Amino acid sequence: MQEHLTVVDHPLVQHKLTLMRDKGASSAEFRRLLHEITLLLAYEITREMPMTTRAIETPLEEMDAPILAGKKLALVSILRAGNGMLDGVLELVPSARVGFVGLYRDEETLKPVQYYFKVPEGMNDRMVIVVDPMLATGNSSAAAIDLLKQAGATDIRFLCLLAAPEGVARMKEAHPDVPIVTASVDRGLNSKGYIMPGLGDAGDRMFGTK
Ligand code: URA
Repeated sequence: MQEHLTVVDHPLVQHKLTLMRDKGASSAEFRRLLHEITLLLAYEITREMPMTTRAIETPLEEMDAPILAGKKLALVSILRAGNGMLDGVLELVPSARVGFVGLYRDEETLKPVQYYFKVPEGMNDRMVIVVDPMLATGNSSAAAIDLLKQAGATDIRFLCLLAAPEGVARMKEAHPDVPIVTASVDRGLNSKGYIMPGLGDAGDRMFGTK
């Protein structure tokens, strides 16, 4: 079982993250860097994918060679910023099935409300990787994982670019069985729920909406 929290401190990840944090990065650069970091983070989060062997023949002899086993991975994006991490994981695991969870925050109750939910069938026997670049309060991530568990998922991992200690604690309380892989745990949240020092609104920076 993977650690509850893995911070990938590889120099390439940290270098690219610094370029992304810089407010001078264009949307195009931000998207490209997010894609590149996702490839490196995905390498870490997929390290426990179940394996089997297949009998093959090399040009020299027969061998039982290692190969991925079991049902295809389900990759679930939390809309909208999660979409910026989809292609990176799909580049490494092109056969993964893809789902989407859309949640908004009810301004009165401050609770996450579902507006979209579409996931592949057979969630109960797939490894599920949930992607969302920013683990801030952890409320929407915890709610998305509640929905995935209701849909039958039992083997879930969470992949993000940046996390706040508050979000990590919330996830540990709500879903201690869900390992988190991230590039950094930042100082904390500000009064508006932004990760500090962070990188701002990931969706806006990705799509140029602000
Ligand atoms: N979502 C973001 O995009 N940025 C934050 O800092 C927190 C949540």
